[in-house]
Amino acid sequence: MSDARPIGVFDSGVGGLTVVRALSEKLPHENIVYFGDTARVPYGPKSPQVVREYALDDTNILLNHDVKLIVVACNTVSAVALDVVQKQARVPVVGVIEPGALAAVKRSKSKRIGIIGTVGTIKSNAYGTALKRLDADVEHFSHPCPLFVPLAEEGWMDHRATELIAKEYLFPLTQHKIDTLILGCTHYPILKDVISRVTHQTLQLIDSGEATAEVVAQLLDSEGIRNLSTMNARLQFFVSDVPHKFAEIGERFLGRTLGRIQRVSFASSHD
Ligand code: DGL
Repeated sequence: MSDARPIGVFDSGVGGLTVVRALSEKLPHENIVYFGDTARVPYGPKSPQVVREYALDDTNILLNHDVKLIVVACNTVSAVALDVVQKQARVPVVGVIEPGALAAVKRSKSKRIGIIGTVGTIKSNAYGTALKRLDADVEHFSHPCPLFVPLAEEGWMDHRATELIAKEYLFPLTQHKIDTLILGCTHYPILKDVISRVTHQTLQLIDSGEATAEVVAQLLDSEGIRNLSTMNARLQFFVSDVPHKFAEIGERFLGRTLGRIQRVSFASSHD
């Protein structure tokens, strides 16, 4: 049996396109519907209560597209509102926290793991809880890196300012002698090179998006809902606003041009 229904992916904005990129590399024949809540981004500094309300709206938009599975690409939503999405969706839901934590536990030798993310993600300690559940001997250390989000969107991957900020954020973590660092935010894979550079290439960087794509592939098989077609997949992009430079920034995050970007409003999300 083949299931051509799309995988639904949502995020607070453009960042989740790094997760779409990982998904379409791993699963090139799966159709994808993406929703980015660009009108209300960022979610990172917002209270858990508001993020939970937004997550519900985002889920409903995807459900209107008859998705077969939902990927919560946003780390902040995965950290504080995964249960809300699971309760609302009638389909399997995958967040980015568990897959990222699992990949880190598998890769770390010293069992000393660092976590970086938005203020909301770090405050929730969702990664720390997941790591401990997987291996009680793991020690974890975390630091919020909110300025990485605008720097990645600005395209300042090689800028001196980014390097200085990265040093400031990451130095305290390296003092804890971690060997693995979880990039717990959609935007951070864009800054992989500078993060490696300032930590002197000593850390294994865990891209939660890539780890999530692995879990999604396994789930499609175990649920028997893989698309067996060998046709090129259809990627559709929906946003709650089309802000300036969205296509340009999106292209950097996705690794290719997005094509048509459609705006939807929450009131009439049946486009
Ligand atoms: N997508 C968010 C995350 O992964 C980062 C941007 C935001 O703060 O909304 O946590």
